[in-house]
Amino acid sequence: MKVLVVGGGGREHVICWKLKQDPRVTDLYCAPGNGGIASIATCVDIKATDLDSMVEYAKKEQFDLVFVAPDDPLALGMVDRMEEAGLRAFGPKANAAIIEGSKAFSKQLMKKYSIPTAKYEIFEDEQKALDYLETQPMPIVIKCDGLALGKGVIIAQNLDEAKQAVKDMMEDKKFGNAGSTIVIEECMTGPELTVLAFSDGNTCIPMVSSRDHKRAYDHDEGLNTGGMGAVTPGADMTDELKARIQNEIITPTVEALKKEGRPFKGVIYFGLMLTPEGPKVVEYNARFGDPEAQAVLPLLENSLLDIVDACIDGTLDQVEFKWKNKCSCVVVMASGGYPQSYAKGYEITGIDTCGKIVFQAGTALKDGKLVTSGGRVLCVYDEADTLDEAIDGAYEGVAKISFKDMHFRHDIGRTLG
Ligand code: AMP
Ligand code: GLY
Repeated sequence: MKVLVVGGGGREHVICWKLKQDPRVTDLYCAPGNGGIASIATCVDIKATDLDSMVEYAKKEQFDLVFVAPDDPLALGMVDRMEEAGLRAFGPKANAAIIEGSKAFSKQLMKKYSIPTAKYEIFEDEQKALDYLETQPMPIVIKCDGLALGKGVIIAQNLDEAKQAVKDMMEDKKFGNAGSTIVIEECMTGPELTVLAFSDGNTCIPMVSSRDHKRAYDHDEGLNTGGMGAVTPGADMTDELKARIQNEIITPTVEALKKEGRPFKGVIYFGLMLTPEGPKVVEYNARFGDPEAQAVLPLLENSLLDIVDACIDGTLDQVEFKWKNKCSCVVVMASGGYPQSYAKGYEITGIDTCGKIVFQAGTALKDGKLVTSGGRVLCVYDEADTLDEAIDGAYEGVAKISFKDMHFRHDIGRTLG
């Protein structure tokens, strides 16, 4: 089988790595890929958001499967376009990917179908938003409606900060058009948990839980990033908690999307908060998380291709899932300065001899050398019987890798996230 994976980060590296383990995958391509993916797949220089070129290329090469991994091409309708071109594609269509692309849409969906989430109001008018803030308890959460690379969320501690956030988004357009509609919501408390789940439109099966660490620095300080590391399991998953997440959140979400005429085929990312009243949805994403995928997928014993097929064909209820009974940890090694500006082009050493699996993100090959080319550069993975051992193992790998100005958190898995 000839397979194309769309994307070029650590998440796409683990997806390629996992697909490649299935002997049916004889030809693996990735667009645009990265310096690490290049060692297991043929990288093709097409941007993930360039729908026209991607569809034309996929048609020309007659891929048997196109796996669309990142949020932007999904929101833009890449799966729709591939299917219109007669190709088999994995991922939600644009009308279902909207659960990530529009926070206003997903909040309304949750309200309509009584899926637990923070109370909220949606605003398109700045003055109305400012007036509303005067009536609300602090802290409060202000979010851009659209995609803002995980940065369009402000937790305002007081009224002044809240008003400033509304002005930044609606008046000064700090997040571009993503902020022309905003969501203001109640601030929830409790540990966060990521549950990724495969969905075929009817059946939705959760993977092992995970926990991301979004802030740039130790002890959850610094700016929000795409994620600086992840562990699995993400919480003490008691049978009661599992049942509540399935019955109150996962199943109702997939049913709701089906009823709305937007059946979801692909991976749903449930960003949850375990509040004193029970699990509630913080956000939905329409794809694997990054770096959660790098912590979760290596523990899956099934062929990923079998599951992808079942999602596309609507036969997920027939799949018997098998997971390794292990804990895992990935530590992200980033460029100094990330998530703000950073330099690129520094040589990376130690990956081959560090003794751990390393998924690559912002790397490129230049004159035969592996160099940094992005904010998040590498994800070092380890698994073990206990979480402590998995964390120690990942950090043993990190200690053997080096590049100029590298930056990583020292407390992945040791703080709440
Ligand atoms: P989001 O992009 O919606 O996932 O938000 C980014 C981060 O902001 C989340 O991972 C939470 O840490 C935090 N957050 C978002 N919404 C809320 C909320 N209603 N209450 C408390 N924290 C929140
Ligand atoms: N790690 C968070 C995300 O993928 O959105």
